[in-house]
Amino acid sequence: MALPRPLVLGNWKMNGLRADGLTLAGRLAERAVKLSGTLGVFPPATLLAQVAQRLVGTGIMVGGQDCHEKPSGAHTGSIAAPMLRDAGAGAVILGHSERRHGLGEDDALVQAKTRAALAAGLTAIVCIGETEEEYAGGRTLDVLERQIAGSLPLDLFTRGAKADSLVIAYEPVWAIGTGRTPSLDEIGRTHTRLAEMLGPRIEGDLPPLLYGGSVKPDNAADIMAIAHVDGALVGGASLDADGFWRIYTAGGGA
Ligand code: 13P
Repeated sequence: MALPRPLVLGNWKMNGLRADGLTLAGRLAERAVKLSGTLGVFPPATLLAQVAQRLVGTGIMVGGQDCHEKPSGAHTGSIAAPMLRDAGAGAVILGHSERRHGLGEDDALVQAKTRAALAAGLTAIVCIGETEEEYAGGRTLDVLERQIAGSLPLDLFTRGAKADSLVIAYEPVWAIGTGRTPSLDEIGRTHTRLAEMLGPRIEGDLPPLLYGGSVKPDNAADIMAIAHVDGALVGGASLDADGFWRIYTAGGGA
C-alpha cells in the first residue's frame, strides 16, 4: 500500500539512551493523534523494540538504521532484516552516507541489503547523494544515476513487483549535519531528474522521494513544497519532539 505523503522520517543515528528515546517517542505519540501523512522514527538498534512497543497503535512508523544482507548466520555484531522486523520495525534505512562513506559500503552491498529488507517485508529507505567534491565538479546527476542503477534491485520492479515498499532519500553528503542545503531550485531540478530516471525503471507509481540534509523547522515548508519532494529524512532536528513535529506539519502532515 502506498505510504501517505508527506513522509517525515527521523534518523536518530547513534543518539539516545533508553530514557531519552522513550521520552522522545512518548512526546511524538502525544501529538500523533490522527496522522494524515507518514511519520517515522529510526532509533538506534538498542532502543528499537522498546520504542516500537511504546508506539504501538499510534500509526508512527518505526525502523532500523541498517541491516545485514543475509537473513542469519555467523556475522558478529550485525543485525538481520528479519530480526528488525521481529523487534517491531516496519522499515529500515539503507545506504546512508555515514555507512557508504564512513564504513565503505558500496552500491552492490546496499542493493543486497535492500533485497534482504524487502524479502523480510520491511520498507527500504534507500539513501543516495553526492559528496561535496562531486557537487563542486558538477557530477551530482551522474552520481545519482550510478547509485540508482547500482543500489536498487530494479529487476524486481521491471518484472512487475510494485515499488510500494521502497522510499528513496536524496541526501547530499555535504548537506548532512552542516546547516547547508542546496538551493530550492537545485533541489527541485535534482528531484525532477530523479523522477525522470526512475520512471522508466519502475512499473506503476514512483516511490516517494525524500530530501535529507539540514532540514529544520524553518526550511521544511519551502523544501517540502517543491515538486517531487514527498517528504524529508531528518537527522539532528528529529531529536527534539517539538521541532520534528513542526517539520511534519510544515510538510502538510497533521
Ligand atoms: P541532518 O538533518 O542532521 O543534517 O542529517 C540528515 C541525515 O543524515 C538524515 O539521515
